Amino acid sequence: MSVAEAQHGAHQGEHRAFLNRYYGWSRKFYDLTRKYYLFGRDTALERMLAEPWNSLVEIGPGTGRNLRKLRARRPHAKLGGIDASDAMLEHARAKCPWASLAQGFAEQADYSQLFGAPPERVLFSYCLSMVQEKERALDHALSQVAPGGEVWVVDFSDLSGLRQPMRGLLQRWLATFHVQPLDIELLRSRGAGIEHGPLHYFVIGRLRRPT
Ligand SMILES: C[S@@+](CC[C@H](N)C(=O)[O-])C[C@H]1O[C@@H](n2cnc3c(N)ncnc32)[C@H](O)[C@@H]1O
Repeated sequence: MSVAEAQHGAHQGEHRAFLNRYYGWSRKFYDLTRKYYLFGRDTALERMLAEPWNSLVEIGPGTGRNLRKLRARRPHAKLGGIDASDAMLEHARAKCPWASLAQGFAEQADYSQLFGAPPERVLFSYCLSMVQEKERALDHALSQVAPGGEVWVVDFSDLSGLRQPMRGLLQRWLATFHVQPLDIELLRSRGAGIEHGPLHYFVIGRLRRPT
């Protein structure tokens, strides 16, 4: 193993340990509190459900909140998730016994391990803003989704519609949870279809892998 690989592994180990500490105590009231500030998730799910697909992997499914909503509307679809946090996975496994779930990192997980084939859709819902190597994770997702499939992202945008000091305060508060709002260039430079929420609070991005 090279020095760079060893350092990378150590960073991921620290990230996993942080997530386990943070979600170990907060996962029980996670869904209740997040509905007041993780906006745009249901809009993204509606957009996705407007089209046919039969398999989806969520990266960073957390408590499984989105997977449960998708399952209610598309009960025959294969649904799965890959999360870096063991604490969140334990919670999601209890809440979504029908889902295929595995521990892994967005930057390099093997998505095909879940269904034995690449998924038709990949969802990042308020996960990419927590991922350390965002570009690598997005490019990896595009290489792991089935040809002709799509990667969807819903997450904090640049918050440019918020006035100071509100914007700075929100950015600093998010940083305490290791959350960094997305740089829209990340999506734009990859040719994503982009839709913004009010005040650029959230963004929904849609990327298609060519067939
Ligand atoms: C803010 S929560 C969002 C949960 C869920 N997607 C939702 O919309 O409610 C972020 C999730 O991403 C996971 N996560 C953070 N960094 C990750 C990484 N590098 N690879 C995979 N999952 C990660 C966290 O453990 C957590 O479950």
